[in-house]
Amino acid sequence: GGASVLVVAAGFVLGSIPFPYLLTRRSGIDLRRVGSGNVGAANVLRVSSPATAVTVLALDATKGSLAVWLAEAITRQSTVAICAGLAAIAGHAYPPWLGFRGGKGMATTAGVFALLAPAATAVSAAVFVVLIAVSRVVSVGSIGAMVALPPLTAWFAGSPAVVVGASVASAFVAFRHRTNMRRLWLGVELRLGQRL
Ligand code: G3P
Repeated sequence: GGASVLVVAAGFVLGSIPFPYLLTRRSGIDLRRVGSGNVGAANVLRVSSPATAVTVLALDATKGSLAVWLAEAITRQSTVAICAGLAAIAGHAYPPWLGFRGGKGMATTAGVFALLAPAATAVSAAVFVVLIAVSRVVSVGSIGAMVALPPLTAWFAGSPAVVVGASVASAFVAFRHRTNMRRLWLGVELRLGQRL
């Protein structure tokens, strides 16, 4: 009904709050024009402090969790909560306020599925951390974590709707990493925290 449409729209608006952009523009930086051009924590780390990057990661994850939590609290329908979470990821990637040039959705996806599928998300996050530790490349961790998430939600007996939601989010975030995949293939991908 109307409430469902409203909470999904609220999810998009929440997701579209560009924390990485807001926390770096103080220093006169436009994230869309430096490094990978991505409005996300990995790119913040290239131009700002680790503390700012971690803050941005936490805020981008929290807005995803909040979108899911609000939808669940208001409608009591898990499919609506999943849709609100996916809307938050879309809002993060396509913020109207930044000419629709946002981030890749990694942190927001983690925040969304931390509520919908906690065990699967914890293991996916571990995959993310281990792959980055080994490769020193954030996109390698992100792509690996996204490949792992849908089967993990199925493994931990998530509802069919959660498994479908994880598959949609995973495919979308992987699609948002296509320039990273090209750079990895060419051997020119930026390394973790590599200064510009
Ligand atoms: O979550 C985004 C990360 O996987 C890659 O970011 O800035 O290196 O393209 P970036």
